[in-house]
Amino acid sequence: MNFHVLTLFPEMIMQGLGTSIIGRAMDKGIISLEAVNIRDYTINKHKKVDDYPYGGGAGMLMQAQPVFDAWKAVLCKIQSEGSAGAKVIYVTPKGRTFHQAMAKEFAKEENLIFLCGHYEGIDERVLEEIVTDYISIGDYVLTGGELPAMVMIDAISRMVPGVLSNKDSGETESFSNYLLEYPQYSRPEIWHNKRVPEVLLSGDHKKVDEWRLEQSIEKTREKRPDLYEKWAEENQEYFIKKAKKEARQRKKMKK
Ligand code: ADE
Repeated sequence: MNFHVLTLFPEMIMQGLGTSIIGRAMDKGIISLEAVNIRDYTINKHKKVDDYPYGGGAGMLMQAQPVFDAWKAVLCKIQSEGSAGAKVIYVTPKGRTFHQAMAKEFAKEENLIFLCGHYEGIDERVLEEIVTDYISIGDYVLTGGELPAMVMIDAISRMVPGVLSNKDSGETESFSNYLLEYPQYSRPEIWHNKRVPEVLLSGDHKKVDEWRLEQSIEKTREKRPDLYEKWAEENQEYFIKKAKKEARQRKKMKK
């Protein structure tokens, strides 16, 4: 996976993503990251990339020309390396909200181009020509697109095979099936008078799996009822099985 970020602050992107798991994946060559400075492509002799919006209004807009030429340079490079093209993700609060399933889908691409806006946005005409996906990271407004781009690149990278050391840890965690992750515990067995749940010390893997699923369901119901509803709708058989099991247990008790 090759990430290309069109930005006015390339050092922010490179510094923000160069460490830890993503940094290691870059060192290993599983992913690559380049930050392209839009300012390098302006034809304005003062290196200006913004101007006033027609019709008036607050702030400045990023102009079409430098954005288009920066994109064109990246596209030419991608094509010279044998790829047909790449999706262009414009990070904007006006987009669809990013989620885990999107991260998984984008992780299948060979190249992704992120376009980061600043000031009051970007001239609509260049967006119409180059953007394939308008994506937001949530219903709030940030000062620029760099942080959202980094958030998405991190989430997408984790879904690229080989980036996480434990090959299925991206599958079992929160959101992979609408459920939030179960609670986890490490040494010591007692901390601040709190014991690690007994079942986790039992060595009975079936029981541990059952307990973890129950915890996931309960945590999701409590903290994200919207996700719980979706999960419940797709997992009716869980409730049927559970009701049967409870009925069997009641019968046993009566005997
Ligand atoms: N740019 C500014 N705010 C944003 C947000 N919430 N999501 C994506 N891009 C943004």
